[in-house]
Amino acid sequence: GPAVGGAMSVFVTRRIPAEGLRVLSQASGCRVQQWDSEEPVPRAELLAGVAGTRGLLCLLSDRIDREVLDAAGPGLKVISTLSVGFDHLALDEIKKRGIRVGYTPDVLTDATAELSVALLLSACRRLPEAAEQVKSGGWTTWKPLWMCGYGLSNSTVGIIGLGRIGQAVARRLKPFGVRKFLYTGSGPKPESAAEFGAEFVPLTRLAEESDFVVVTCALTPATQGMCNKDFFSRMKKTSVFVNTSRGAVVNQEDLYDALASGQIAAAGLDVTTPEPLPTDHPLLSLKNCVILPHIGSATYATRSTMAVLAANNLLAGLRGEPMPHELKL
Ligand code: NDP
Ligand code: DGY
Repeated sequence: GPAVGGAMSVFVTRRIPAEGLRVLSQASGCRVQQWDSEEPVPRAELLAGVAGTRGLLCLLSDRIDREVLDAAGPGLKVISTLSVGFDHLALDEIKKRGIRVGYTPDVLTDATAELSVALLLSACRRLPEAAEQVKSGGWTTWKPLWMCGYGLSNSTVGIIGLGRIGQAVARRLKPFGVRKFLYTGSGPKPESAAEFGAEFVPLTRLAEESDFVVVTCALTPATQGMCNKDFFSRMKKTSVFVNTSRGAVVNQEDLYDALASGQIAAAGLDVTTPEPLPTDHPLLSLKNCVILPHIGSATYATRSTMAVLAANNLLAGLRGEPMPHELKL
């Protein structure tokens, strides 16, 4: 309605880093409404909050579908998401309505790649399990056969989705002595692969030959459930699986079976379905599964930069200017 409308009215679905909010509140004519909480906006509050606004700054935990777009009304011109992933946005509906979309590629690549490496090392060298042994008294003496895992030296690493983050992961893993990089995706990317001498292979061969599988692809209809029973059954018993993309790329029941039966050695997950993962989920009962609460981009600097970028994307969209990072629909 007119109370919240206006050329520069925006709705922000969460408390965000102050630097980002400041960009919005200092923009002339910009009227900010915000769900000012650490917790997600309830659906009803989201539907009410977007009504009549021109711009929406949302998070990956907000499902922006036809219902939200209808609630917003025809005045909504720009959606800016505080993420590089956009699987939470109904792009067909958004495009149909001529709404522009901004997102945050590049600025979180280093932080997410770093976390991916940390998670990989945590899983293959059993860090949480080992640290727990120190606290529980399980550490009695230095034992030659105790707490052994798998290392990167002379290994084969398979990257599913050699995009911005996938390449940044490979760049960081290479100095650990990786012997061979494999990758898969919608097609070969010789320019991206050259730096690592990475070989483009089908998913099945990547599963069979990799000592470490790292998933860094986008969640799409093609990648949903891609890491399933068939995939895990092709992996070696000594291999480690890491996912920092989206939980739905993995069939979690199949992953559980593979980990519990010793079909694969270990897994590290930064993303799950659902999020949060219920604390009684079977995966949490496994020693060989390290699960983190979706913290890939969580450095202070990165989150601040993401917020500023998301704010600037939104403002540029509202002003009809080129966005710093617009998602081409
Ligand atoms: P990019 O778009 O640069 O990379 C995505 C990659 O996915 C592309 O290289 C693409 O390969 C690949 N891909 C698409 N379809 C398939 C397929 N069928 N099989 C295998 N690979 C495929 O995105 P980013 O690297 O910037 O980000 C990747 C994803 O990481 C995001 O979409 C997001 O979901 C997730 N993410 C998670 C974070 C976290 O906190 N854990 C933080 C940041 C991002 P191709 O070009 O060949 O199609
Ligand atoms: C993203 O940006 O898609 C991540 O999941 C969070 O930074």
